[in-house]
This record gives sequence, structure tokens and C-alpha cells, in this order.
Amino acid sequence: MEDFAEVTYNGKTFKLPVTTGTENEKAMDIATLRSASGLITLDSGFKNTGATKSSITFLDGEKGILKYRGYAIEDLAEKSSFMEVSHLLIHGHLPNKTELESFNNNIKKHTLVHEDMRKFFDAYPSKAHPMGVVASLVCSLSTFYPESQNPNRSKEETMLTIYRLMGKMPTISAWAYKNLVGHPRVYPTNKLDYAANFLNMMFDLPSQKYELNAAVVKALDMLLILHADHEQNCSTSTVRIVGSSQANLYSSISAGVVALWGPLHGGANQAVIEMLEKIQKDGGNVEKWIQKAKDKNDPFRLMGFGHRVYKNFDPRAKIIKKACDDVLKELGVQDPLIDIAKSLEEVALSDDYFKERNLYPNVDFYSGIIYKALGIPTEMFTVMFALGRLPGWISQWQEMIGNNEPIGRPRQIYIGDIDKKYVPIEKR
Ligand code: CMC
Repeated sequence: MEDFAEVTYNGKTFKLPVTTGTENEKAMDIATLRSASGLITLDSGFKNTGATKSSITFLDGEKGILKYRGYAIEDLAEKSSFMEVSHLLIHGHLPNKTELESFNNNIKKHTLVHEDMRKFFDAYPSKAHPMGVVASLVCSLSTFYPESQNPNRSKEETMLTIYRLMGKMPTISAWAYKNLVGHPRVYPTNKLDYAANFLNMMFDLPSQKYELNAAVVKALDMLLILHADHEQNCSTSTVRIVGSSQANLYSSISAGVVALWGPLHGGANQAVIEMLEKIQKDGGNVEKWIQKAKDKNDPFRLMGFGHRVYKNFDPRAKIIKKACDDVLKELGVQDPLIDIAKSLEEVALSDDYFKERNLYPNVDFYSGIIYKALGIPTEMFTVMFALGRLPGWISQWQEMIGNNEPIGRPRQIYIGDIDKKYVPIEKR
């Protein structure tokens, strides 16, 4: 039976088809609304607008459910690896052993960056934020591989770009860190797995060999899984919209990195640690900072709290909170910031302001404490998020291209001046 919604305007009723997703979520398709009624929809921040039909990630913000291609995030975080999840997102299914090996090898073939790229690192100020460096260098990859700029490229060429991105992103990211601390760059080691290779490039020094710790590698791999995709968030929508103009994949991903950088999105993980340190320095008075977060005249917000879609709990935050305790215990790290974070959470969750607005800890609230325990510096936190999100961005871009989606171009309601007469400059 055809499902539809009715919109009545100026005495006329318009029938709009209703689309139902596989998890039974519903959307009213407004494609014909303007031509039939003259109306557009207005939805600042796209709070209630579906931009696409997607078969990659499902999330239910009310129930706190997150699944990649039908697999629960809890299962993937506990049992799979970041490479398996990347294969799942990019190729659409969990790999068997042979497929995983071939996927891994294809990525490992491309971990080196062109030697000419080293010169770029030298040109950045020594304290350059790694996100700025990573975004620029990812975009610059398109100049080293100009065939990526051809919108009519073959499937094989597209896969080559994808493997290059997956292979080079950890190298570029670790080198952005080396630039920040002024240490010599470390080349990739292909006998190591993805997370281990990244950690080695981050921390190995000519004066002191970096000893890989299995617990650290495992924790990082799990964090990458938890960040791997999150349907149509700000950075992913950016990747899809930039890609919809047929800009090349490197540039589209670079745009995603930039969108992620903001403190309301992926940049929140850095902002959380900075906030916790500030509260600690200020004497650790949690109540005072909760009051500040509630005060509409105070620009302070509780970073790592609240989410556009999760209105009950963020399942990633639940997993990370537990992992945080485990990792600190395993590494024997005692971090007073975790106590401040837990008190903030406790006070906020029993406060009417946060309860009424359904504000809960999100993925960024505890992740920074783990990154810190793993030895990753604050400025690199958002880069870690980008590393994890890369396969998600790639798969969302593939889906958009595969579906032949039209160029993204929202409409607006104009509220500016009308019919003004040009006045020559000397008469103004
Ligand atoms: N602290 C204090 N008040 C808050 C917070 C917060 N962290 N988040 C939302 N509110 C209030 C907000 O002031 C508003 O109050 P009122 O209804 O009285 O005007 C109400 O809650 C609704 O907030 P909103 O800003 O309209 O909600 P949004 O969906 O537009 O924004 C958000 C979502 C994540 C940007 C926001 O909650 C926020 O700024 N959180 C802090 C930054 C953060 O942790 N971001 C990471 C998000 S998760 C990682 C990712 O995927 O990006």
C-alpha cells in the first residue's frame, strides 16, 4: 500500500510519498513540493532533513543504537579489528581471511608518501596545528596523483586512490606530529599492523626505540573502530557535498578533515581535555563549571556533552568509558582528570538542565583521557578522530558517487534588502 503524507497550504492539499527505511524510519519525500505548492522547506542546521538514503550506518538516537552495515558497534568494538571494519565500510561486507590479507597488503603498498611531500612539512611553522597540516597534505595528494582529478576514472583507479588514502593518512598524521615536536620523521614499517605502524611512526626516536605495548595497540585499534562512521554528520555531509561537485576524492576527504576540526564536532576531544585541565587548575570545583555551562550569558559549554542525534546515550561513550578504566588500569596510569570527568558526568546527569535537554556524554568525553594515557598529545586528538573516520568518509563518498547523486545545493529564504538603486561612490 502506498504510504504518503499530506501538506495543506492555501486551501490545497498536496500528497507527498513517504519512504520507509529497513529499520522502519520514515521520511516524507519533498522533491515535488516546490513545483506543486511553491513552498520549500526551511531547516537550519538540517536538524530534521534527510540528505540521502544510505546503507552504510544506522543509528537510533533515542535508543542509543549504532550499527555499521547491520553489525552492532558493541560487537565490532569487542571482536573485530579496524582493518576488518574498514573493509566492511568500503567493500560492504566483513572480509574472509584472504580478502582481509589482500586489503591489508593493498594499503601497505601505499604507506610511503612521495619524498617531495617532506618539503611541505619543512615549510610549516614549527607549532602548526596538525589538523591544518593533515588537511592540506591530504588535499595535496591530488596534485601528486592527477589521475584522481578525472571524474570518469575507472573503478581500479578509484580503488587505488582509496588504498593510497588509507595507506598515507597515518604517515601524514604522524609526520604532522613530528613537525609539532621538532623530531625526525619515522618511515612506515609495513610488517606492523595499521595502529602499531602509526604508533611507531609517532613515538620511535633515533635515540630510543619505541617499544610497542599490545594493550596500547589494541586500545587504539578499538578507538579507530568506534570513530569509523557516524552517518550524515557535519564532516561526512561535507565530504559528500564536496564530492557531489565531482571534486576528486583527496580534496573531498580534506574538506571532511577541516569540517571535523571544529570544537563542536571532532575538535571536541581536544576541547574536553583542555576543559578538564582548566577545571583542575581552578581547584576542581565541578558545581561551579556546571553552573557556568547552564548560564546562557556565559559562552562556556560542557564539552563532550550533548549530541545532535543521541538523546538518550551515545553507545560509543559507554564503550569508551569502560575502556578508559581498563586502559588506565592496564598501563598503571593515574590521571586525576578522570575523576573530574566522572564527577562532571554525575552532577550533570542529575541536573534538570541537562536532563530536560537530554544532554549526555558523547564519544569525545572520555576518549581524550585514553589518548592521553596512550601518550598521544592533545593537539593530535582530532587527528586520531580523522584517522578513524577515514574509511567512513570514503564509503559515504563511494555511495554518493555510485548512486549518481546530484550536486548538493540547498535553497534559502532571502531576507535581505530588495530593489535598491546603485548610488555612485562620491554620493554615498
Ligand atoms: N553544554 C551546555 N548546554 C548545552 C550543551 C553543552 N555541551 N549542548 C547543548 N546544550 C544546550 C543548548 O544551549 C540548548 O539549550 P536551549 O534549548 O536552552 O537553547 C540545548 O542544549 C540544545 O542544544 P543545541 O546546541 O541546540 O543542540 P545541537 O543539536 O544544535 O548541538 C552539539 C549539538 C553537539 C553541537 C552540542 O550539544 C554541543 O555544543 N556540545 C558540546 C560540543 C561537543 O561535545 N561536540 C561533540 C559532538 S559528538 C562528536 C561528533 O560526532 O562530532
